[in-house]
Amino acid sequence: MEKVSVWSSNRFWRRSATWVTGVSAVLLILLTFDSMAQMKMGTAADLKNKVDKRIPSPTVINYKIDYQLSRARGHEVPIIGGMDANGKSKYEVKEKFFGRDNYSEEEARTLIHKGKLTIQAKNCMDCHTFLGNGAYYAPDLTKAWLDPTWETLAPAYGGKEYAIAAFLQNPPAMAMHERKMPNLGITKDEAKAVVAYLKFMSAIDTNGFPRNFGKIKGAVNAWK
Ligand code: HEC
Repeated sequence: MEKVSVWSSNRFWRRSATWVTGVSAVLLILLTFDSMAQMKMGTAADLKNKVDKRIPSPTVINYKIDYQLSRARGHEVPIIGGMDANGKSKYEVKEKFFGRDNYSEEEARTLIHKGKLTIQAKNCMDCHTFLGNGAYYAPDLTKAWLDPTWETLAPAYGGKEYAIAAFLQNPPAMAMHERKMPNLGITKDEAKAVVAYLKFMSAIDTNGFPRNFGKIKGAVNAWK
């Protein structure tokens, strides 16, 4: 019988194709489950029990949120409720949001949902980007809650959240750049809900996206 090289054997290629397809399919299924687990929103109990979730419970609005450089990961990560000695969230330090730091899961969820509907109804994405979606005419809003500008304005408005809400209700009056945001007729209640959404969004671990959010005070050289 003539000796056929393995490289020109049909059987070899057919088997290889079957194996590669089979292994890839299994891998994709496993990765899909892994992604779904990573994207699953945490609960109020997770925050209480200090369980790290990429997408924290809506009750994260009851906590102080910082953004610190993680040496291990090579980018900034959200720090919720204070930072421990290892650069991890402590989930302890609360922060009043419109006068309260005890929003229930239901209340916080309702507020953030209203914020999301307002953002959709007013088409903020025409100009801004949220979590990678939208336009770049105006600043990326994924981490807008952490913009140090609001920290600076907080004392005059009685808190960061009040300053952002005031801006949203009449942006031209508080213009900070040459390119101005128009007045979109946002009501007081809508502004509060939008700010809740912005605060919640800033606590989502986005693997350091958007890159070079250099405006955040103390983000670089935060811990050696
Ligand atoms: C027509 C374009 C446009 C639309 C639509 C728009 N914005 Fe803006 N927005 C801007 C511009 C331009 C700025 C920068 C203005 C400034 O700093 O004075 C801005 C600034 C902001 C800031 C401050 C950003 C920061 O980094 O601190 C926030 C928050 C904001 N917008 C939220 C919203 C929300 C929420 C909506 C939808 C309800 C919205 N914007 C719709 C153009 C727009």
